[in-house]
Amino acid sequence: MEQKYEQFKGQPRLPKFVVPKRYVINLKPDLASCTFTGTVEISVDVVADTKFIVLNAADLTVSRDGVRFREHSGLKVLEALEVKLLEEDEIMVVEFSENLPLGVGVLCIAYEGTLNDKMKGFYRSKYEHNGEKKNMAVTQFEPADARRCFPCWDEPARKATFKITLEVPTELVALSNMPVVEEKRDGDVKTLHYEESPIMSTYLVAVVIGLFDFVEDHTSDGIKVRVYCQVGKENQGKFALDVAVKTLDLYKKYFAVPYSLPKLDMVAIPDFAAGAMENYGLVTYRETALLYDDKHSAAANKQRVATVVAHELAHQWFGNLVTMEWWTHLWLNEGFATWVSYLATDSLFPEWKIWTQFLEESTEGLRLDGLAESHPIEVEINHACEIDEIFDAISYRKGASLIRMLQSYLGPECFQRALASYIKQYSCSNAKTEDLWAVLEEESGEPVNNLMNSWTKQKGYPVVTVKVNDDKLEFEQSQFLLSGSCGDGQWIVPMTLCCCSYDARKNFLLQGKSEILDTKEFLGCSLSQGRLAETGTWVKVNVDQAGFYRVKYDDELAGRLRYAIETKCLSAMDRYGILDDSYALCMACQLPLASLLTLMGAYREELEYTVLSNLISISYKIARIVADAAPELLDCVKLFFINLFQHSAEKLGWDPKQGEGHLDAMLRGEILAALAHFGHDVTQCEATRRFDAFLNDRHTPLLPPDTRKAAYVAVMQNVSISNRSGYEALLRIYRETDLSQEKTRILGSLASCPDPDIVLEVLNFLLSSEVRSQDAIFGVNVGIEGRETAWRWFKENWDHISKTWGSGFLITRFISTIVSPFTSYEKAKEVEEFFASHSKPSIARTLKQSLERVHINAKWVQGIQTEKHLAETVQKLA
Ligand code: BES
Ligand code: ZN
Repeated sequence: MEQKYEQFKGQPRLPKFVVPKRYVINLKPDLASCTFTGTVEISVDVVADTKFIVLNAADLTVSRDGVRFREHSGLKVLEALEVKLLEEDEIMVVEFSENLPLGVGVLCIAYEGTLNDKMKGFYRSKYEHNGEKKNMAVTQFEPADARRCFPCWDEPARKATFKITLEVPTELVALSNMPVVEEKRDGDVKTLHYEESPIMSTYLVAVVIGLFDFVEDHTSDGIKVRVYCQVGKENQGKFALDVAVKTLDLYKKYFAVPYSLPKLDMVAIPDFAAGAMENYGLVTYRETALLYDDKHSAAANKQRVATVVAHELAHQWFGNLVTMEWWTHLWLNEGFATWVSYLATDSLFPEWKIWTQFLEESTEGLRLDGLAESHPIEVEINHACEIDEIFDAISYRKGASLIRMLQSYLGPECFQRALASYIKQYSCSNAKTEDLWAVLEEESGEPVNNLMNSWTKQKGYPVVTVKVNDDKLEFEQSQFLLSGSCGDGQWIVPMTLCCCSYDARKNFLLQGKSEILDTKEFLGCSLSQGRLAETGTWVKVNVDQAGFYRVKYDDELAGRLRYAIETKCLSAMDRYGILDDSYALCMACQLPLASLLTLMGAYREELEYTVLSNLISISYKIARIVADAAPELLDCVKLFFINLFQHSAEKLGWDPKQGEGHLDAMLRGEILAALAHFGHDVTQCEATRRFDAFLNDRHTPLLPPDTRKAAYVAVMQNVSISNRSGYEALLRIYRETDLSQEKTRILGSLASCPDPDIVLEVLNFLLSSEVRSQDAIFGVNVGIEGRETAWRWFKENWDHISKTWGSGFLITRFISTIVSPFTSYEKAKEVEEFFASHSKPSIARTLKQSLERVHINAKWVQGIQTEKHLAETVQKLA
């Protein structure tokens, strides 16, 4: 490489001497050959002497003749001396023979590209129309793939306006961020000119071209909202449309700024890597995240649609109007949109108790952040290939949880006022994390910056140990790690507690390592009088789990809480939290498994969806670890779990009750699936009976969508290589349905089969053309019996897997799903050895995290094996 390009290589950001202001883009895709031609004219401001222009481009063909620079007056045109595409850095350097005139000018580039099949950049998605196979052209630019569609300054802070023109076959629908202002027809081609956009980031530009139907509605201030979907499926768009219209009105009030574009389109795309993408004015979705079918979608599908729509629309303010300055602040976008989506969903569907369900977000955040290989929320980004990996539970779920923590500390009114003022102050511009803290600090008068820096600039979180000593409570914080070691982080922890009743509350900031509180001074009850649980005294720390930390109680306090659970004194969020913290402490070998199981026994009469759902998922994980650590106890443990879920299973039954709620519908499916999974005979028989009825009649009332997954899991439990009929029946349903949610449901249950030979068949099926590459990951969900098979399959198919999913974030899901369930140091070593020659930078972080999980499991297994009284406890409980 010539010397002169060296200065531009290996830089995390583009040089600043040329500033883009306005893009005029013309695209002409050829859907048959999957190619496109394009021209872009970029109005720029040259702010420093240079004869180079450096901007992003990737996978595009540009020749020297195709590039010129027009001076503002139009009098002078400079031809490019040389155009160099630097592949690794994804930049193009245009060199001119002389320095560019300072001030305004226009960079004009003509180029060609391909509509790829990688679900990023400008890509093709496949669908069928009247039995005919077709391609559509779609864009997905976040985080850094606009450069695969047009040369640009592809960084979130390089905002500009966009004026787009598309040349497409007349019969197709062609959408972009803005409405069409002019349409010209010429034979079977039409040229669509779109209105110029307000200033925005490149990653939010979008184009969709294909055959679609739509449904339409308007917000209260007349903004036209449409949902586009496959021809003939428009009824499935109505639910999302209704949510969108209401949500836009709600956000307008909440942020005190109206939606900023003249229209909003939402489109279901058959091949889509993420769940959805918030492109300004043209939000794209997976079908499962947008379409809702009255007859065949489950309650969980409905909830997913509502929360995803609410999330993407939140971005229209938080992300699109106000944009992160750099990817280091990605969490501002994603953490915030996640949090706000709960606010909107709660207002639209209060009966869903969505804030209780929010705790699942916190749990996942805490789970990832409990690894030494986690990363701070604000993470340094040095290359585009590092960005994909930070769309993770830290940015989304820890981010959202911290916002909830802060809101609960500052109070909702103050918080909302500050947000509105932040949006106003930074609209059409970019912001960093500290900008948000500054506005919140100003509005509240609290030291927000100081408080929050301890949470966003260092990774991890604390466990607060609480001990009772007469009437004194002693608190001490240390960093919590699932490995059981103690990190050296320290935080400013917003502590909340209540004692014996939710009316007796105390809040304080734990600033140092430890603190002692005298409870007599502020709490309504005395801790010292009456020693034990029977007196009904209890102390719950981290009320409603509003804080992002774990709590470890001494035995005395833990016993009282268990009693408080049994006697139904605690809120659902607190019941959830006590269980979840105990599970984490158990995994970190800080709480015996016997104690955790005993605690779980206190939830026998639990009926709250979120609490039970977590109880179920914890029971799955315990069964897995026991299978490796103490296989002789496994049957007994399973029996205990079956008994534990019996109460709620009997209440719910298989058939929906007249007028029952959304949460009961969701719970029924999960409870029955758990009973089937743990081998409960009665449930398995009933599942088979109902499945048979379903095979005879897809509209049978015996198997409504909410219980289908449970029936599928039960069916697969009994499938083996010599008894394949259930498996084949499921494949038939998979092939016959055109509802993505049904396909996903089936994929998610196939690999749970205990026969490794079937598991292998399932895994190979995932690589066939019958499974869209976006969906394959759902089928990798193997049970413990399939773990080894999955790993062997993964190694043998690595080339294919890496080629198909390696250029996006989906590959990381394969790695964590397949590697993390192992529980021995030997296995960890084997995995490491394989990746020694198969790793690459874009999966490095995930690989390290997955290996750390294997180590944690291995240590946990050892802990359980040396635990005294475990067998005794298990037998007693079962
Ligand atoms: N901005 C993301 C989409 C995205 C994800 C782009 C990863 C590039 C890489 C979008 O707003 C989003 O967060 N989508 C979520 C769904 C949401 C409800 C959590 C997703 O795709 O899972
Ligand atoms: Zn998002």
